[in-house]
Amino acid sequence: MKKIVLGSILAAAVAFAAAPASYSSCVACHGAKGEKAFAATPTQIPANLTKAEVATALKGYKDGSYGGKMKGVMKGNVMKLTDADIAELAEYIGK
Ligand code: HEC
Repeated sequence: MKKIVLGSILAAAVAFAAAPASYSSCVACHGAKGEKAFAATPTQIPANLTKAEVATALKGYKDGSYGGKMKGVMKGNVMKLTDADIAELAEYIGK
């Protein structure tokens, strides 16, 4: 996996013009396209999930049916997402 310094993450985020607007709040923790895991939960890399799994994860964080020890961190990030946002994010992040 590539190691990227913060500066290039920010540059990449700007370069990824195709990212859904709702992804802008995810960049700080997950990188430009979901390829980064949060430091405390290194195995949970959004981009390793399929599109369907990303959608399931995001809906599950919202209703409490998905997640590990740090799911509270994600809950705050997904509560404002609509079903349409989740579909877009799943398409963008998932493989
Ligand atoms: C403050 C940091 C932070 C932000 C911002 C954030 N996340 Fe997360 N994300 C996490 C953490 C921590 C986890 C692991 C939580 C757990 O224990 O289940 C996670 C997990 C996930 C997972 C599940 C990965 C897996 O393998 O189960 C997905 C998908 C995801 N995030 C997508 C997003 C999206 C999309 C956004 C923006 C709407 C976002 N995240 C914003 C920290 C963040």
